[in-house]
Amino acid sequence: MLSKKMEEALNAQINAEFWSAYLYLSMSAHFAAAGNSGFANWFEVQFKEEQDHAAIFTKYILSRGGKVMLKPIDGVKTEWTSPLNAFEDTLEHEQKVTAMINNLYAIATEEHDYATQSMLKWFIDEQVEEEETAQGLIDSLKMIKDNGFGLYMLDKELKVRAYTQAAPLAGSAE
Ligand code: FEO
Repeated sequence: MLSKKMEEALNAQINAEFWSAYLYLSMSAHFAAAGNSGFANWFEVQFKEEQDHAAIFTKYILSRGGKVMLKPIDGVKTEWTSPLNAFEDTLEHEQKVTAMINNLYAIATEEHDYATQSMLKWFIDEQVEEEETAQGLIDSLKMIKDNGFGLYMLDKELKVRAYTQAAPLAGSAE
């Protein structure tokens, strides 16, 4: 059984993951409208991954006999001044998500909830990757500055990013 405190914190995380999905869908739409199909694709994949994260938490709460309580999702920004601006927002947002995951782990530790600690390990590793990727793209965009050819090449590179279902969902076919 999940404690009430753990159940509430996990439910808050579902909302945060959907908010993340909303944010990245908004970024994807923004870049698609601007004709940057590679940046749009990258954020669309990100949008799908965030929905996977929400699904993992949902399934986990259910598997522990908890109650899933979905709350309204707050609005998100709709404009970014440049790809660099969007990736800086991405990094800042992912750092906040990392802090939330760490807080969930702290609650699980406090409550000797070993199953939740084990489930969260995938997210802890995922956040390292999320922050590293956003930082790498920020570094590239800082090098490119407003060089049109550089932006064209990066947009092309990001067009090939493909979505794959998150491992904890892919492995839960039973
Ligand atoms: Fe669900 Fe981007 O962390």
